[in-house]
Amino acid sequence: MKRFFSLILCLALAVNIASCSGKKEQPKDKDLYVIGFSQVGSESDWRLANTKSMVDTFTEDKGYELRMENAKQRQDNQFAAVRTFILEGVDCIIIAPTVEEGWDTILKEIQDAGIPVIIMDRSVSVDDKNLYLTNYGSDFLEQGNMAVRWLESETSSMSAEDNLRILHLQGTYGATAQLLRTKALEVAVSQHDNWEFAAQLYGDFTEAKAYEVVTDYLRNDKDIDVIYSENDNMTYGAMRALEDAGITYGRNGQVRIISFDATKRALQYCLEGKIDLCVECNPLHGPGVEELITKYRNGEEIPKHVYVEETAFTYSDLTQDFIDSREY
Ligand code: AHR
Repeated sequence: MKRFFSLILCLALAVNIASCSGKKEQPKDKDLYVIGFSQVGSESDWRLANTKSMVDTFTEDKGYELRMENAKQRQDNQFAAVRTFILEGVDCIIIAPTVEEGWDTILKEIQDAGIPVIIMDRSVSVDDKNLYLTNYGSDFLEQGNMAVRWLESETSSMSAEDNLRILHLQGTYGATAQLLRTKALEVAVSQHDNWEFAAQLYGDFTEAKAYEVVTDYLRNDKDIDVIYSENDNMTYGAMRALEDAGITYGRNGQVRIISFDATKRALQYCLEGKIDLCVECNPLHGPGVEELITKYRNGEEIPKHVYVEETAFTYSDLTQDFIDSREY
């Protein structure tokens, strides 16, 4: 009996010491699936819609914790973010890569840490495709080809002696969206004897840069027929530069405008006749990526590359109701 009481006393003392030692009870594990997301930046309206889609999808209510890092369009910032995610031991890493090249080493580091990776929006160019689970995003080459087909049909009645002078505004060099939209146009120019580049200018997917380079360009040459702008924000910059230079554009203007993304503001301009063609780049990746993650977690097979559905719009495809009902 004596031994029994001394045992009780010891236990009571132990509990007391623990409660006085300042050690807090760990908060109950909420059992969230933690995702580290390295986003390209906030360079465009498209990107903001893409970020929103991810934030709206991966919520705590649905069992996720989304840790997002904005890379400000720099790959080295993406490497730093990914290394932090590895140290934190997240359950999954999603990367929207700034550019295609240079990912082998960091993806190997993630693989060695045993964390699955999803490449989203753009693509990576790596020798070993097992370094990532899947690539979810746009078919950028098909987007470029949609633009080319439209331009071919618009210029089909042009005489062979007339030259079509194209001012090409390029997005971030080395990004899939730039590489493949550029490829489609360069191939088309090489196949049409009377199509030529007035110039290829670097706009980095931003309105400010495009405004600057187009303004500079128009100081010396105003002889252009088409602007092929690799995203909507660069288009807005180019439109301002054209206005400053007194050049008309759009359906009844001197310069026809092709723009990529088809975000709300661009569609509105298209309906107003200021942009001739809006090629869609769908930014609403959240739900599709979540579906792939769910399948992966259930042990189901997932495809190596998933393309989102996209189309192109001209004035005649649009109504105000349609534009108002668009999510982005
Ligand atoms: O990768 C998608 C492209 O990146 C979009 O066209 C552009 O707006 C964004 O910055």
